[in-house]
Amino acid sequence: MSTSIEKITPYDEFNFPIPEDEFPKDGMSARAAAGIVISAEWTDANPMLNMSSFVTTWAEPEAAETAKRNIFKNYIDHDMYPQVFAMETRMVKWLHQLWNGPKGVEPYGTATVGSSEACMLAGLAHKWNWRKKREGEGKDVARPNMVTGGNVQIVWKKFLRYFDVEPRIVPLSPGNYRVTAESLDKYVDEKKRTGISIPMHIDGASGGFVNPFLYPDYKWDFRLPRVQSINASGHKYGLVPPGLGWVVFRERKVFNEELVFYVNYLGGEMPTATLNFSRNAFQVAVQYYMFIRHGFEGYRRIMQHTLDNAIALRRILVESGYFNVMNEAQRIPVVAVTLASKITNFNEFDVSNKVREKGWVLAAYTMPPNAETVTSLRVVVRPHINRNVAELLAGDIVSACKYLEKNGGNAPPPTLHAHPSGTAAPTKC
Ligand SMILES: Cc1ncc(COP(=O)(O)O)c(C=O)c1O
Repeated sequence: MSTSIEKITPYDEFNFPIPEDEFPKDGMSARAAAGIVISAEWTDANPMLNMSSFVTTWAEPEAAETAKRNIFKNYIDHDMYPQVFAMETRMVKWLHQLWNGPKGVEPYGTATVGSSEACMLAGLAHKWNWRKKREGEGKDVARPNMVTGGNVQIVWKKFLRYFDVEPRIVPLSPGNYRVTAESLDKYVDEKKRTGISIPMHIDGASGGFVNPFLYPDYKWDFRLPRVQSINASGHKYGLVPPGLGWVVFRERKVFNEELVFYVNYLGGEMPTATLNFSRNAFQVAVQYYMFIRHGFEGYRRIMQHTLDNAIALRRILVESGYFNVMNEAQRIPVVAVTLASKITNFNEFDVSNKVREKGWVLAAYTMPPNAETVTSLRVVVRPHINRNVAELLAGDIVSACKYLEKNGGNAPPPTLHAHPSGTAAPTKC
């Protein structure tokens, strides 16, 4: 660079080549560095228009300020940030009550990075309890297994592989995207129905913050005696920016004390029972803000509006004649559709690509085995989308279909890497 240092402007620095494979040698001014980062960010999708994701993409300025104020706090350092820990502890009790945990017990749970970490912790607790019980009965503990539907999120397939649990995955079939009790017989070892209580974990990643507010009489939670643990994503319908998950146990003893470690590296003695150690604390503070800001009534209204907007969007899609609905029971504000069988000259991937021209991100994906022949187009309606915008989106989807009907399309599905084990799993989040 021949220009002297005094004469270099941020515009010059903005055009410095950014190395691909080597660590940058010299630095640059803050303004130029920010400009380069911002120009890269511009080409990312707009998170507000990303309708394929469940994560929260909007927050009130006060919530954003709360995040900013807490951004330099390390969540794990309970000794230095006891108030963040106090908020978390209080919220675990609130969630235990919200999910109808039994009274008179000591609730236990934790905030996590997301539902994946929460599911892994719950899975480990169940594996621990299973082994202890079997050892007590003098039974073989070599090969734990878990029965689940092919519809589960990828975290469960990760859990099974990472923590050495035999997968017993019940395949789906076109038109049936859930596991039903009848299909379980083939997959469970102990067929006699009496005297056996199989503990359950409920993966309430999104439903955990919808069901309590909209369907208080629907028994999916600790009211069912076998339910020992529940997870939910604070960063989905909990209304917190990513990433925050929660896992709550029926009572403390479900989470075996052997899984808790005590360390003193950061000052006083501190328990740690999460897979991560350091992580940001701001999400916990923002969740606390959200809970006290909205209360039960506020969450109920927000979820009701969001669901109503999803229903309005779904109605427009169905009435267009292009789509069949896949989730007949419309509990959470998600609309999953597949193209009607009469459509033969374009597919769901074409629709996803076409609406992208308007900025919308809609996930089209093939269903897991044995329903791979079905492709789903999914719209996750979130609270920042009001009725006008939901209808605008529905209109853009229908217009895309009209265009494609006339002009045709043949977008291929994205290829999935084959896993060494031979299983590639379509996923959702
Ligand atoms: C049912 C379910 N479980 C688990 C997860 C994983 O959650 P996270 O992305 O918060 O790790 C998701 C979605 O992401 C989900 O939908």
